[in-house]
Amino acid sequence: MNGPAFRRSNGAVQTETILGLERVTRRFGDFAAVDDVDLAVRRGELFSLLGESGCGKTTLLRMIAGFESPDSGRIIIDGRDMAGVQPYERPVNMVFQSYALFPHMRVAQNVAYGLKQEGMSRSERDDRVNDVLSLVGLSALANRKPDQLSGGQRQRVALARGLAKRPKILLLDEPLGALDRKLRKRTQFELVNLQDRIGTTFILVTHDQEEAMTMSDRIAVMGAGQILQIGTPRAVYEYPNSRLVADFIGAANLLEGEVLGAEAGTIRIRLNATGTPIVAMSDARVAHGDVVTVMVRPEKIQSSREPVGDQNELFGKVLDIAYLGDMSIYHVEVADGFRIQVAAANRHHTDEPPITWDDMIYLTWHPGDGMVLMA
Ligand SMILES: Nc1ncnc2c1ncn2[C@@H]1O[C@H](COP(=O)(O)OP(=O)(O)OP(=O)(O)O)[C@@H](O)[C@H]1O
Ligand SMILES: [Mg+2]
Repeated sequence: MNGPAFRRSNGAVQTETILGLERVTRRFGDFAAVDDVDLAVRRGELFSLLGESGCGKTTLLRMIAGFESPDSGRIIIDGRDMAGVQPYERPVNMVFQSYALFPHMRVAQNVAYGLKQEGMSRSERDDRVNDVLSLVGLSALANRKPDQLSGGQRQRVALARGLAKRPKILLLDEPLGALDRKLRKRTQFELVNLQDRIGTTFILVTHDQEEAMTMSDRIAVMGAGQILQIGTPRAVYEYPNSRLVADFIGAANLLEGEVLGAEAGTIRIRLNATGTPIVAMSDARVAHGDVVTVMVRPEKIQSSREPVGDQNELFGKVLDIAYLGDMSIYHVEVADGFRIQVAAANRHHTDEPPITWDDMIYLTWHPGDGMVLMA
């Protein structure tokens, strides 16, 4: 309950690599905007690059497209090394955040532009433009100019233009950034459905973790020019490999503590904030006295007014409640200045009075729901 919504797995994804990056680095002066990145994207995947502003997402995309050259490392697309290959010779296309539509051209002309440059014949061009406009649901608006379109429609023109050349990989840099929240949600689904139908590999840049979660087959989480973790949305959410990833993806309680002992896949830890001993199921290699972080997601914690006698049990005071309709988030102070977030579904209208501000409650979670993080 209350976890993120994940995309159903796309049956079209193949095991074969369509894009490979090997130790790719790009510096501006002494600053490495992209720092020693390895990556393998599979044919047919919707793959997201997710990370904070300035972490190097656009730079990485521009190198794949050929607008920027790596200082070192190799980029291989469909088995071919891209060193020295011009952008227009690469089997990729990029949709820019700003859409960059020509304001004086009609929708159809905007979409046809790249094909015309390529020297495609008039009749073939017309067919292609009709095809992609119908694909993105814009056939009826072919004769409009960009300023006669809504934001979402403009986004679809940019998408149609990106797809018109039938690239093997479509690169999308924050394609939904200009849309308001509601339209953004709808467009996310449209984009995923479209990608499912045409099977083209999409690489999507976003700094919105929810967007990456709901849309992607796999996500690469980036930080400071490096890739921190690559995995399915579920893997990076449930099994983050560091505090940085845990904190960036979704809400996380990060409980620091000292290792008391470890045996047979179970680690005993004393929490720094409360002095409470807890246990976590983990194969992490730890030694007595190591300082580690245990991550527990808010929806994995149960709350009750009575002690349950579980192995993992904290006690604290409800300081804050955020009522979100289908669920509520409780902020519970378990030690001076140390709060834990608990998410609870608002399922029943029970006789029992609901937990409220200043209530003292017990918090428990299963040892398997605490992830031990070493970094
Ligand atoms: N041409 C350039 N010259 C110098 N520094 C640059 C140049 N282009 C990018 N940078 C720097 O490289 C870093 C990465 O930039 P990039 O545009 O790739 O980030 P981003 O992850 O796309 O961020 P955002 O989410 O804000 O778009 C930033 O610190 C940026 O200032
Ligand atoms: Mg960017």
